[in-house]
Amino acid sequence: MSLFAELGMRYLIIQAPMAGVQGSELALAVTRAGGLGSLPAAMLTPAELRGELGRLAQSGLGPFNINFFCHRQREPDPVALARWQQRLAPYYAEFGLEPSAVTTAPSRAPFNEVHAAMVAEFRPAVVSFHFGLPAPELLVQVKAAGAKVFASATTVAEAVWLAHHGADAIIAQGLEAGGHRGHFLSDDLALQQSTLTLLAQILAVTDLPVIAAGGIVDGKGIANALAMGASAVQMGTAFLCCHEATTSALHRAAIHSPEGQQTALTNLFSGRPARGIVNRLMRDLGPLSDLAPHFPYASGALAPLRAAAEKAGDSGFSPLWAGQNVSGCRDLPASELIACWVKEAGLG
Ligand SMILES: Cc1cc2nc3c(=O)[nH]c(=O)nc-3n(C[C@H](O)[C@H](O)[C@H](O)COP(=O)(O)O)c2cc1C
Repeated sequence: MSLFAELGMRYLIIQAPMAGVQGSELALAVTRAGGLGSLPAAMLTPAELRGELGRLAQSGLGPFNINFFCHRQREPDPVALARWQQRLAPYYAEFGLEPSAVTTAPSRAPFNEVHAAMVAEFRPAVVSFHFGLPAPELLVQVKAAGAKVFASATTVAEAVWLAHHGADAIIAQGLEAGGHRGHFLSDDLALQQSTLTLLAQILAVTDLPVIAAGGIVDGKGIANALAMGASAVQMGTAFLCCHEATTSALHRAAIHSPEGQQTALTNLFSGRPARGIVNRLMRDLGPLSDLAPHFPYASGALAPLRAAAEKAGDSGFSPLWAGQNVSGCRDLPASELIACWVKEAGLG
């Protein structure tokens, strides 16, 4: 029996975990509709995560995927933070903000003992990781809880590494994908490939199931990836405008505007490259800049600016994460989107 049949998914469609724009409501809707709903944990406090896991458990539905980041947390660099604040100072002045509004607390915690204990308690069917895998002693706990482990690879070398270090399925994250690049062996963006190219090459080096992610937004895209040998697809951007997502009105408007067509990789919002719709900050500073402090500390000085700008109806300082293909973003309940794709792809 295939891994996905074992999980009890009706359709080979995984809703990509998307920190900051969704919670359990979207995950519940997708799993109820026959796909695999995902809950992003990267930006949740332990108490928030417990609440969300409780909601999933209470639903009596399954399966679910709980997603974590597993970057190595470094201390902030005060010199880099000061330089960043200095560069942002003119914007602070423009929005009437005090420099003291800056926070240096990390905005995203990597997978840790507290998370592992919650996985053991709630026993999700799948746990997925971005930026590699956690330390072996933590991964053992995830597996002991009965979860299948999925992890993102952005190169063939990363896929091979994940296969050797305990992943049960590889997510081939192509360059088209919205949100953070999951790379962890090399930060050379020149090594990154588009989804179908990456998929074909990863399939050639592993017997593990490979999930295609990046730029897939409709039934034709799903059918195409499955025909190429993907065991399932993972779709994020296509869910951004659905009713159950918490995507802000400004973010939704940017997706539907002509600017939605223009995305770029940027490190300005967190310190790591991620794909989003080009906005004022990216245009002014250049999307990739040495000025941005390392992950995840770039977001601290931007948070007050983003809040003030958004209050004024301006998304120029917000991370407008989206993939290159926004043509599938529709304002519908997730179940209706999935039903359309299933019909188009002939999965029904
Ligand atoms: C708004 C947004 C937030 C994302 N956040 C996460 C995340 O928290 N964890 C993760 O593993 N991937 C995250 N991703 C990446 C997705 O897992 C996936 O690789 C991507 O959505 C696939 O490309 P697509 O957006 O073109 O469908 C995010 C993507 C988007 C668009």
